[in-house]
Amino acid sequence: MTFERPNIEKMQGYTPGEQPDDGDSIKLNTNENPYPASPEVAAALRSIEVDSLRRYPPPLADQFRQAAARLHQVSEHNIIPTNGGDELLRLVLTTFVDSGETIAITKPSYSLYRVLADIAGCKLAAIDLQADWSMPENFLAQLQQVQARITILVNPQAPTGSLISVAYLDELAGNYGGVLVVDEAYVDFIDPELGYDSIPLIGRHKNLLILRSLSKGYGLAGLRFGYGIACESLIEPMLTKTRDSYNTDTISQHLATAALDSTGPSILPSIPTEPWTRTVAASRWRH
Ligand SMILES: Cc1ncc(COP(=O)(O)O)c(C=O)c1O
Repeated sequence: MTFERPNIEKMQGYTPGEQPDDGDSIKLNTNENPYPASPEVAAALRSIEVDSLRRYPPPLADQFRQAAARLHQVSEHNIIPTNGGDELLRLVLTTFVDSGETIAITKPSYSLYRVLADIAGCKLAAIDLQADWSMPENFLAQLQQVQARITILVNPQAPTGSLISVAYLDELAGNYGGVLVVDEAYVDFIDPELGYDSIPLIGRHKNLLILRSLSKGYGLAGLRFGYGIACESLIEPMLTKTRDSYNTDTISQHLATAALDSTGPSILPSIPTEPWTRTVAASRWRH
């Protein structure tokens, strides 16, 4: 006998990447940053008084929202802070799709999407990337055919590393009738010379949500902090209705704010361009 909902009973849970503690492994499986977070984050950590934990955190993480708004030159109403990018993905499903409806992704991509779709009791349409990892042909027509309410793209793609252009996203968002999530967990690794910047698209498309994570480029996977950037009408229901009442804690808000404040408004000003030496953002404060 089980008390689980039928779709929960049937599904497999997410398998987190293995964390060996042998000290010898060169660990690549979960895409953590080999560099520590910025000195400003270390200083912010040292400055936390245990007494500050007596009280609940600011529910909307106001200081973080303001820092993110400054960094991306948007309004704080365009920002939702979350417990990692993963929580944002879960909130998107909770807020914008009903069970039985369809979520579309490209294949291969992040294995959590299927788990979240299973939890929500949704169908998952996983549409194959082309052989050279470029976007599927007639992608919009395929989304329309499966009646996808939400489409999630990873950009730059994980695990392939390919990049979808801003022009492509602009056109897709403009013609697609559902919510388009662009998961930019790895955005800090894009060659700055490519000038990739999707943020201005949120002013043009009310259905576009950009996911950011502090786990990768900022070297803060252990902090569990991410955020969404979108027009206010997409952010507002998640912020005021479906989010846990205190979804980010006092310590993580403080450190995440320090992390964003220590980067300045430009992404990776002077990082070398060979793909793997740009391992990254963290190296920017070493120069
Ligand atoms: C494509 C992609 N999106 C989102 C995430 C989640 O990041 P976070 O650690 O912020 O929850 C990951 C983490 O591995 C990822 O690979």
